[in-house]
Amino acid sequence: MTILSPHRALFDMPRDTCYLNAAYMTPLTKAQVKAGHASLELSSHPWDMGAEDFFTDTERTRSLAAEVLGVTADDLAFVPAASYGTATAAKNLPYEKGQAVLVLEEQFPSNVYEWQALVERKGGDIITVPTPDDDDWTAGVLEALEAHGDRIAIAALPNVYWSSGARLDLVTISARCKAIGAALVLDLSQSLGAMPTDLKAIDPDFAVAAGYKWMFAPYGLSVMYVAPRWHNGAGLEQHWITRKNSEDFRGLVNYVREFQPGARRFDMGERSQMVLMPIWAEGLRQLAEWKVHNIAATLEALNGRLADVVGNAGFTCVDTTKRAPHILGIKVGDKAAEVGALLKHNKISASFRGNMLRLAPHMWVDEEDEARFAEVF
Ligand SMILES: Cc1ncc(COP(=O)(O)O)c(C=O)c1O
Repeated sequence: MTILSPHRALFDMPRDTCYLNAAYMTPLTKAQVKAGHASLELSSHPWDMGAEDFFTDTERTRSLAAEVLGVTADDLAFVPAASYGTATAAKNLPYEKGQAVLVLEEQFPSNVYEWQALVERKGGDIITVPTPDDDDWTAGVLEALEAHGDRIAIAALPNVYWSSGARLDLVTISARCKAIGAALVLDLSQSLGAMPTDLKAIDPDFAVAAGYKWMFAPYGLSVMYVAPRWHNGAGLEQHWITRKNSEDFRGLVNYVREFQPGARRFDMGERSQMVLMPIWAEGLRQLAEWKVHNIAATLEALNGRLADVVGNAGFTCVDTTKRAPHILGIKVGDKAAEVGALLKHNKISASFRGNMLRLAPHMWVDEEDEARFAEVF
């Protein structure tokens, strides 16, 4: 594991901006913007585009995403949003009338509304794990799995709680889900790309991550992991490009039942995304160069220093034993408005979620940013 030095020069970031908000959206790197200019050029000359342009960048990006996530490209599908992934999972997973879906209290809505719709449509209910006082969500999830047993058809959970950065132990939770026959659907939008996550060990049924945060995608591209046991499932759409032999544009109306291999059948319509896909490929190349475990180690050390600063100012953070490396949740309570005004005045960008101030730095944060943060606090 290596602690990386800051890479501020890779980003177009004004010196007086202190951006601690990767959990909201990561900025594109300058190299990504350059890749975007080239892809716009190509789209302005479609006569220079061949059938291969519908496939080459998509498959290059799929392989890069697989490298970053430690899975095989065959296990990944391109989706436009986390909500599309949860909708795909809901379409495929078994659910009997009277069963339930397990979620966390105030979990991000893209992993809630779909399940509310499912239990309303089929009959059943949502079981909600209450917010723990000590940020230990894992204990609450295990308790709920124990209490409700096989009534739970699906546990729909995150890896990292979006507003506080508290971590869940998904390997343990997954083992418990399997023991009671519950499927596991994950929203990993606040962890993939920044925190090593062993998808093979967790073995979820479906896992999705909005790309525009820690995965360095341009807004509108996201990734979904599909366990091999679901590779014969049904995508949300019946899209031509996901079918076998779709490379042969002349033969597209020779309708076929077979699909492209692996999880490609779950790709969204128009998944080639010739403008956006090369931008994401460059973002993933950068992530692969940094490596997720180095990013995690670097951000953990950085957040540790920020936690010391806010601790000295009298605030409490999510405990080191419970928090993810890359997000620092600070309990600001009724001081939220005051702290918010101070940060804004000093051009420090971070998010407030509930009673939490959520800091989410990344590789652009350097000593000058840290010094300003310390001075303001
Ligand atoms: C945990 C989590 N999931 C998903 C999203 C985005 O969802 P979607 O891609 O469905 O817009 C966010 C955005 O903040 C998030 O924090």
